[in-house]
Amino acid sequence: MTARKIILDCDPGHDDAIAMILAHGSPEIELLAVTTVHGNQTIEKVTRNALAVATIAGITGVPFAAGAHRPLVREPEVAESIHGESGLDGPVLPEPAFAASGMHAVDLIIDTIMGNEPGAVTLVPTGALTNIALAVRKEPRIAERVKEVVLMGGGYGGGNWSAAAEFNIVIDPEAAHIVFGERWKLTMVGLDVTHQALATPDVVAAIAAVGTAPARFVGELLEFFGQTYKDAQGFDYPPVHDPCAVALVIDPTVMDVVKVPLSIELTGTHTLGMTVADFRSPAPDDCTTHAATKLDHAKFWALIVDALERIG
Ligand code: BDR
Ligand code: CA
Repeated sequence: MTARKIILDCDPGHDDAIAMILAHGSPEIELLAVTTVHGNQTIEKVTRNALAVATIAGITGVPFAAGAHRPLVREPEVAESIHGESGLDGPVLPEPAFAASGMHAVDLIIDTIMGNEPGAVTLVPTGALTNIALAVRKEPRIAERVKEVVLMGGGYGGGNWSAAAEFNIVIDPEAAHIVFGERWKLTMVGLDVTHQALATPDVVAAIAAVGTAPARFVGELLEFFGQTYKDAQGFDYPPVHDPCAVALVIDPTVMDVVKVPLSIELTGTHTLGMTVADFRSPAPDDCTTHAATKLDHAKFWALIVDALERIG
């Protein structure tokens, strides 16, 4: 098995933290770089959180770089109601064991893609798409050099930050417009599937049974995240969004995916940031966008438990 090389562009964030852990603990993945972007909290906070998660999970030898501190056009917005004041409220975080590289995330993304074989690197964004949009504008050749983009964001069946739009897309819709409009293969792992990735009590028990420090950390993340999802969005169990994108790279059978044209609404009064899916069929031959539709819940959580067991 050749491991899939990925760059994780994230804003930890409880579910981003679990996405990092899943990537690190899965032999099917080679984590080339972790880059951070404004989103769940400020760039300073999410970058510090990413480094703290790396410290807990024992991620070493992987470059980390901080990226955009705000959206391309709009005013910044954070998700304090879900992720708390630190962006990763709940567990006590350690002092990071190492620092981010001095490089800007956009340059690390470009250098990593251009420094690898064509078709080798998969981009996995789990936050706003600001860094990815800036990277492809700065170095357009990355669009044909990546293998694909598998992102958590959007959803064809409604939003979570507004009735129509999902958080990662609506906080920087212009960036999303750029990224969805490029000619690379793109898969939207949106709310349609991530709302099926619920951390149900059996899942929480299976994670607790692993019994290691990283597993306890994930348990504490889920406890906090579960409460805020209940209070802010009325969920019985929290939907753990971001690891779904990593899971699809690990195992394409973990969810169903369809080819469908996707566009970002940039002007709607009530629909700003909506990911509009055109399900009229057949999809045009030149369509490069895809949407995930259905998750295998048991398979998905088994990947996370296995990753935790491997990290030890
Ligand atoms: C997305 O928004 C963020 O709060 C989460 O980390 C996830 O990436 C879900 O809408
Ligand atoms: Ca995220």
